[in-house]
Amino acid sequence: MAKNKSLFECIECGHQETKWLGRCPQCGAWNTMEETASTLKISGSTGRRKRNTTNKPGAAPFDSITVEEGFRYNCGIKEINRVLGGGIMVGSSILLGGEPGIGKSTLMMQLAGSVQTKGKVLYISGEESAVQLKMRAGRINVDTSNIAVLIETDLEVILAEAEKLMPSVIILDSIQTIISEEAGKVPGTVNQIKYCGHELISWSKENNSAFFFIAHVTKEGVIAGPKVLEHMVDTVLYFDHIESGLRVVRAVKNRFGSVDELGLFTMDETGLKEVADPASLFLTKRKGTIPPGITAVPVYEGSRVLMIEIQALTVPSKSGFSRIYSDKIDANRVSKIAAVLEKHISLKFSDQDIYVNVAGGIKLGEVGIEFALACALYSARTQIAFPPALAVAGEISLAGEILPTPHIDRRIKTASEMGFKYFAGPVLSKCKDCLNVSTIKEGIKAVFKDFKP
Ligand code: TYD
Ligand code: MG
Repeated sequence: MAKNKSLFECIECGHQETKWLGRCPQCGAWNTMEETASTLKISGSTGRRKRNTTNKPGAAPFDSITVEEGFRYNCGIKEINRVLGGGIMVGSSILLGGEPGIGKSTLMMQLAGSVQTKGKVLYISGEESAVQLKMRAGRINVDTSNIAVLIETDLEVILAEAEKLMPSVIILDSIQTIISEEAGKVPGTVNQIKYCGHELISWSKENNSAFFFIAHVTKEGVIAGPKVLEHMVDTVLYFDHIESGLRVVRAVKNRFGSVDELGLFTMDETGLKEVADPASLFLTKRKGTIPPGITAVPVYEGSRVLMIEIQALTVPSKSGFSRIYSDKIDANRVSKIAAVLEKHISLKFSDQDIYVNVAGGIKLGEVGIEFALACALYSARTQIAFPPALAVAGEISLAGEILPTPHIDRRIKTASEMGFKYFAGPVLSKCKDCLNVSTIKEGIKAVFKDFKP
């Protein structure tokens, strides 16, 4: 026979226990276990629940699946279309995380006004009043004719309104404010976010609405509670500052597109502005020679090439062993390239402290920067300046080879458009002002010794 048993749940992390505990065994918080309205049903026999499966379609042959065209909405914001993989997938769920003040509400309000859909856009706010929303929309000049506003934090009311309106796009600002009686008494807990997130995602999938969840991230970059939503949604976007004053939207998960794309914005008094031509944004303008330690590299970010300046500095180590200070390029990568230089061109780094930076504060994760990083380290260590008007790219193997690097022709083209007449790297096709180099030894010699413009 089945019997009901009380259930206690941590309001911080959602951990469940069948008895009350003073301290949550999962997150270690004190006095956070509360009895929940839901009960744990323990069956007398196997514990398996019987589910109603009569209306389920069942398995189908893979080849019978058809893909309909026109399943994405154009956001009306090119940078967001790019990050999403070509627009908003109908019925998809998207999490937009970012620190308070970065511009999440502004971005979503702009998107609400510009997205091209057949149905309405429902903007649900649990954070701001209707008047505040109206004032913001007015200030940033949003076309509000297709937007319905709902100031609400109760999940059940939200679902009922969505049912009435059947919007094409729903924006929820923010997931941390929503509450359902089914999941405890405090909004923003893991359990609330899990439960409300699941209900809202299921509703939007069934009804072909795209759903945007706004989530606040702390300074440390943790979306504490909303982290659980990352597994449930189709796409996770982060909105972040980079040092050059730009704001960047990047996908860290995308079931419908690449995660390498960047959406670049600036913010002024009339809202977020797209950065139309970012290729030269991260270059420092200089006249004449460039100081030692600095190199230029065309970086492939998503579907476009950006010219980036890498900076390196080496100083004799004070502690007797080498330390690497690099937060824009992975320190392990810097360490690997220093080791390759030490081994293959006998330039000692193991008694040096190495500092690496990227102009504009953008983080670089792709392998194509390695030859430029090697040149920056070489230049910093020897104080021989990198030639102006030259750009380099290429991946470096531990054996000291410069390996063929994806999209090399596009990199050369962008570099040349940005005024870098010459290029050195693993060049495959014919190119007049290119130096084709295939080992680090050959590459360093070509760039720092033989190069004559
Ligand atoms: P907001 O979108 O409210 O950020 P979030 O929802 O991520 O917390 O906007 C953040 C900041 O942007 C706010 O401090 C004011 C500033 N801002 C502008 O500079 N220009 C504008 O047009 C708007 C709407 C906001
Ligand atoms: Mg906000």
